[in-house]
Amino acid sequence: MLAVAREFFHQPESERMKHYSADSTKTTRVSTSFNVSTDKILNWRDYLRLHCFPIQDFINEWPENPVSFKEITAEYATSVRALVLRLLEAISESLGLERDHISNRLGTHAQHMAFNYYPPCPEPELTYGLPGHKDPTAITVLLQDQVSGLQVFKDDEWVAVYPIPNTFIVNIGDQMQVISNERYKSVLHRAVVNTEKERLSIPTFYFPSTDAVISPAQELIDGQTSPAVYKSFPFVEYWDKFWDRSLATASCLDAFRASTT
Ligand code: OGA
Ligand code: NI
Repeated sequence: MLAVAREFFHQPESERMKHYSADSTKTTRVSTSFNVSTDKILNWRDYLRLHCFPIQDFINEWPENPVSFKEITAEYATSVRALVLRLLEAISESLGLERDHISNRLGTHAQHMAFNYYPPCPEPELTYGLPGHKDPTAITVLLQDQVSGLQVFKDDEWVAVYPIPNTFIVNIGDQMQVISNERYKSVLHRAVVNTEKERLSIPTFYFPSTDAVISPAQELIDGQTSPAVYKSFPFVEYWDKFWDRSLATASCLDAFRASTT
């Protein structure tokens, strides 16, 4: 997967630009930074983003080149989805919920991939690959190459997550924070760039479908000791808010908190 992604970005600009769009509603597109319409400081990143569940709804839009791109991406996306479904079951059980609870809350499910390409940067202290943010997902499974760049915010400081060969990074996203009523917290993370080496990362973003309604699991709410931290909201409202702004440390979730008065 990493090899074919690298090949994609090493193609001539004209080949990559066939997919360029600044429109975040496009289901397959190449772009740069995060949201070029709203970013005040541009990030040192090019990316290909695509939808990959259900695969047959989207595969016709995916890049034709490199020639092996569709086949490898389809196989990879299918395998990662199987892993995600197992993780969702394990997390449900860890919360004392029915095994299929979280899966059932995500409507018909949605899965996207990003192919992040961070070229070497002459002045890395002036920008980021991606600034600090929390993923809008339920859960994110990140594949990265051997060049470090990912950092997570832990105990009041940024900590580098060094790549370990043949491993994934699994990050909790905002929707899991809501469904678990904050027993799982979405992780603040960012990507920095360096002067020496290009870096590739391939996150799989696993989401509710746009028609799903997200709220804390009823089983985890207790009026006395554990009131609902979030109200119930259509996932699409969160989604529109996420793309309407630049990536920001402040989570979009603040808009969906239950009133405390
Ligand atoms: C992302 C992300 C981190 C990385 O794409 O949401 O956080 O290491 N990527 O590229
Ligand atoms: Ni992220």
